[in-house]
Amino acid sequence: MIRTNTNYLQLSHRYLFAEIAQQVNAYKAEHPEANIIRLGIGDVTCPLPDAAIKAMHHAVDECADGKTFRGYGPEHGYDFLIDAIMAHDFTPRGIQLDREEVFISDGAKSDTGNIGDILSTDNIVGITDPVYPVYVDTNIMAGRTIKYIPCHADNGFTGDIPTEHLDIIYLCYPNNPTGAVITKEKLAEWVNYALREKALILYDSAYEAFISSDDIPHSIYEIEGAKECAIEFRSFSKTAGFTGVRCGYTIIPKELKGADGTSLNALWNRRQCSKFNGASYISQRGAEAIFTPEGQQQVRATIQHYMKNAQLIRESLAFFGLTVYGGEHSPYIWVSTPDGEDSWHFFHRLLHDANVVVTPGEGFGTHGEGYVRITAFGTWENSLEAMERIKKIL
Ligand code: MLT
Repeated sequence: MIRTNTNYLQLSHRYLFAEIAQQVNAYKAEHPEANIIRLGIGDVTCPLPDAAIKAMHHAVDECADGKTFRGYGPEHGYDFLIDAIMAHDFTPRGIQLDREEVFISDGAKSDTGNIGDILSTDNIVGITDPVYPVYVDTNIMAGRTIKYIPCHADNGFTGDIPTEHLDIIYLCYPNNPTGAVITKEKLAEWVNYALREKALILYDSAYEAFISSDDIPHSIYEIEGAKECAIEFRSFSKTAGFTGVRCGYTIIPKELKGADGTSLNALWNRRQCSKFNGASYISQRGAEAIFTPEGQQQVRATIQHYMKNAQLIRESLAFFGLTVYGGEHSPYIWVSTPDGEDSWHFFHRLLHDANVVVTPGEGFGTHGEGYVRITAFGTWENSLEAMERIKKIL
């Protein structure tokens, strides 16, 4: 007899972005003439940085020659990329890491989803609400108990420090979906809570490249004590247009220990060696090139382009009388629906009457109700056109 993981029956019928894609495709099938502008899923539209393209072409050529061909790489990732990450993303911020603490992967979605493999299903998990649905779904799949941490305008979408015990806490800043950022002081409160409760923070900083102020932490390890209580996830997807190429990394400090003294770093290494064969050599060469001076310049130009869209969306919607958050250090703009309209209702109205796709806030959790999320990852022309269309229906 086949026994399935019945925890899956507790999940919503479809993954949020699959549900939206299905609804948009159904609309498109009925209205093939509709010129739909997609500002829903946070998928990038700018081409890859030239430096990454050249490096990946070169890597393909290497693989075309028996003398330089690469097969299986290290499960951990290649040292050339690990060294570039440490030298660029951490050492300048005073964060010293060992190579063995950096795990290259195919992206933050897989790692934030898979990290539960090394954590007991008995852990009580705290998840901010609204939230990136992967954290919720993967903990439901594992059968863990979830306690939601409400995030709203009054706490700056950074959650109140819990008065109860939690074993694991997911934090994501700059935040998906609200676009909020966290101050060093507030992040230190979370770190102190975790140290006090002997809890683990799973810190998703996939959007750190969008931070434009030195006062805002890029890494949780800028906070004292964080190496004893936090794992950090990073991604090249939004930073460098790698949503299709796939490459990211996860930091698991050696100081991080489970209740019985087990090293989480050792467990994750063991897990990756058995279940993962590494991100491709070609993607890793592309990611390495992002850290060259020309790669950095190209990445910055792309981010500036998206942030110009963000400013346009933020300012236009505020001008139309809506309350907007985010979009200053983040590619996401979190918008109150007009007159408290139900977020799925507003989503449908925008799709049908303006042919603009956004993400209904309720899809990110009950505290997302009354909001929609709009991404700045579209083209400038589409962002402008979307604002014109939204203005007409408000
Ligand atoms: C989002 O739209 O929230 C993200 O693009 C989803 C992801 O990064 O997997």
